[in-house]
Amino acid sequence: MPQWTLAYDAFKPEQQGLREALCAVGNGYFVTRGAFPWSAADEIHYPGTYLAGGYNRLVTPIAGRDIVNEDLVNIPNWAYLTFRIDGGDWFNVMAGEILAFRQELDLHAGILAVHLTLKDKQNRETEVTARRFVHMEYPHLAAQELTIQPRNWSGSVEVLSALDGRVINSGVKRYGQLANSHLDPLEAAPFIGEESGEEMLALVTQTNQSKLRIGQAARTRLVRKGQRLDAPHRIERELACVSQVFQADCGPEDPLTVEKVASVFTGRDVAISEPGLAARESIDGAPILGDLEATHRRAWDRLWRRCDIQVNGADRTQMILRLHIFHLLQTLSPNSIDLDVGVPARGWHGEAYRGHVFWDEMFILPFLKFRLPAIGKAMIRYRHHRLGAARKAAHAAGLKGAMYPWQSGSDGREESQVMHLNPRSGRWVPDNTWVQRHVSLAVAYDCWKHYTATGDKAFLESRGAELILEVARFFASLTQFNPARERYEIHNVMGPDEYHDAYPDSDQPGLNNNAYTNVFVTWLMMTAHELLEVIDPETKAELCAKLQITPDETERWEDISRRMFVPFHDGDIISQFEGYGDLKEFDWEGYRAKYGDIHRLDRILESEGDSANRYKLSKQADVLMLFYLFPEPVMKEMLEHLGYAFSAETWQNNIDYYLARTSHGSTLSYLVHTWVMARSHPEQAWELFKTALESDVEDIQGGTTAEGIHLGAMAGTVDLVQRCFTGLDERGGALHFDPVMPHHLKDVALRVRYQERWLDVAIKDDCLTLTAAPDWREPMPIVVRGAETTLNAGESKTFPLKEPPQQLAGGQA
Ligand code: BGC
Repeated sequence: MPQWTLAYDAFKPEQQGLREALCAVGNGYFVTRGAFPWSAADEIHYPGTYLAGGYNRLVTPIAGRDIVNEDLVNIPNWAYLTFRIDGGDWFNVMAGEILAFRQELDLHAGILAVHLTLKDKQNRETEVTARRFVHMEYPHLAAQELTIQPRNWSGSVEVLSALDGRVINSGVKRYGQLANSHLDPLEAAPFIGEESGEEMLALVTQTNQSKLRIGQAARTRLVRKGQRLDAPHRIERELACVSQVFQADCGPEDPLTVEKVASVFTGRDVAISEPGLAARESIDGAPILGDLEATHRRAWDRLWRRCDIQVNGADRTQMILRLHIFHLLQTLSPNSIDLDVGVPARGWHGEAYRGHVFWDEMFILPFLKFRLPAIGKAMIRYRHHRLGAARKAAHAAGLKGAMYPWQSGSDGREESQVMHLNPRSGRWVPDNTWVQRHVSLAVAYDCWKHYTATGDKAFLESRGAELILEVARFFASLTQFNPARERYEIHNVMGPDEYHDAYPDSDQPGLNNNAYTNVFVTWLMMTAHELLEVIDPETKAELCAKLQITPDETERWEDISRRMFVPFHDGDIISQFEGYGDLKEFDWEGYRAKYGDIHRLDRILESEGDSANRYKLSKQADVLMLFYLFPEPVMKEMLEHLGYAFSAETWQNNIDYYLARTSHGSTLSYLVHTWVMARSHPEQAWELFKTALESDVEDIQGGTTAEGIHLGAMAGTVDLVQRCFTGLDERGGALHFDPVMPHHLKDVALRVRYQERWLDVAIKDDCLTLTAAPDWREPMPIVVRGAETTLNAGESKTFPLKEPPQQLAGGQA
């Protein structure tokens, strides 16, 4: 089924890294890249496996300083499985001629399969099928199957199945100079299962700084025509690797299937004694591969019932949207809920950005909160658990409240690099991205939005409120009052546009009055006020006493919400930051002609001895990020609340202005631009949407996807269909719809869960149909293109969409 399958019909070594990331299989507890089971890390293959939140910190001396990095650790390869014929070389697709090849990732079932026929140097032709899944219901189990079907030979085959801990982190070339050896081997041995009496493999390793103990075990069986073979085997052992080597005959009439089932546990798992023991016991009692596959398929089926989004009329669009949902659910699934992990920008699919958590959850949680709110809640709990670290960081900066780090990993400290390598110039340059204080705004925003979508007041009162108030307090302490302007200002920060991290020729990082930050702070102060009204008075009194929030403090928050400074230039253009209007215009045409791909202008300009800070250019336009978050009426309300004029024309002028000055150096940029243009420039928006959609599948940034998917762009494209094209918005206790369907999509069908009620949403033939699940306990207010109505349990209502969409431009608050 093309709409459920990512498929490749030829082996292309240069694309292997990309395919390994796109064909990774995982379950929210761990993820294994889609490398062939017989491959080891080399120039072409990189068989990484990563635990959700499995970090380790190492120090590397570079350019006279000690560089500390916390990495997502590549853990021992559980899937290694290969064979050789008559004592020859181990199977190697590079050493023969590939006669047939097909690789398929079945998105519905969560199964990766590779079928190939190889002619080796001895002219032996062998059909090989390798299938793999990481179990979606039993988070500690995974399976690898290998079928060997000789075409024109018979002989003796040796099958080698290993747990291979001889791995390092070498998946990202530009990190090559950094320390990369994270694992200490503790135990690599065969064992006899108490329950099965069968010999199996066990491997225990431990990360060398975070002391995360990882226990793995594997059971390998040979099967012929459905019957288990009692094949003789020997054990091979090294310090960090243990293997079973089986011997069996094989021929055209005697194909061989190898079934390997593996388990993974860590010392942080709940309800275990010790991870090695847990891994051994779990594999000893594991069902046969076929039964595991059946339960795995059923688990995925359940997830798809909740999470599928159907778009008709565009097979490829449909497939990619499903691929994006698939990777989102492999990164964060019901298995992640008890894990204390955040939302990694690049999935657990590779080593880029070291598995760190940035602000990308703002693009990712909207999909989860409408379907699997418990996962969204767990992600907020990850932040809440790190409130102490955020308070400490604010305090260390001489500020109050809680300051979340730009990059977060295990314990919530700032994990951003201090230097990074520009691969274009080969120079190590200071990395100032940590001045992106707006990450704390995103954390508070996500927390509030979780509450408004779920109505989960108990969670707001027990966790969320504290977090939001502490972030409000942080920003209040970051603002300074400028008596000359009679306005509040924020200095020395950066917005999401990472091409501007300082004023030209300044050696101090940061900019003044970044409009994104200042306007968002206005929202935060207003929300803090609303929050204190919403929560139960007793809880409010307790919280205010605990946090020592005084009426003076809340009055100041209120004052800030009315008097933040927002810079403008050229009439009604909101300046990205104060002074932006004075920067030089950039020679877009000249650079396009010279370099072709100018996504990463920061690197290009640095390599020329110049700096992006000098020009009016953006990686992603942060003024437009405001428009992405806040619909036009809300922007208008906020700016007017601040005493600034704001009209539909202002909105449009700003979009045109910044679109012409954006290089889309981040995949997130396409999402934002699609959203803000969907209503005014539908064709351009569709083109941007398609680019966002293809960004990982086609690796538009030229090599980055191999190092890990872009989870924000993946989830964000799905969210564009979910919220932007349907005009879905939750405000004031009602769900609003104001569809603006691209004509390229014939129809859309999806389900959302809002305040504990499932609602089916379908757009077809210029009609919107909303169907309430039969179990609603109370009706829900619905607003379609401004007209209010009510939906009762089990009721279905259809609304013609003949009238044009309501708002001039989109937003989502
Ligand atoms: C973007 C950030 C984003 C990060 C991780 C960067 O390229 O500029 O906004 O958080 O990637 O996805």
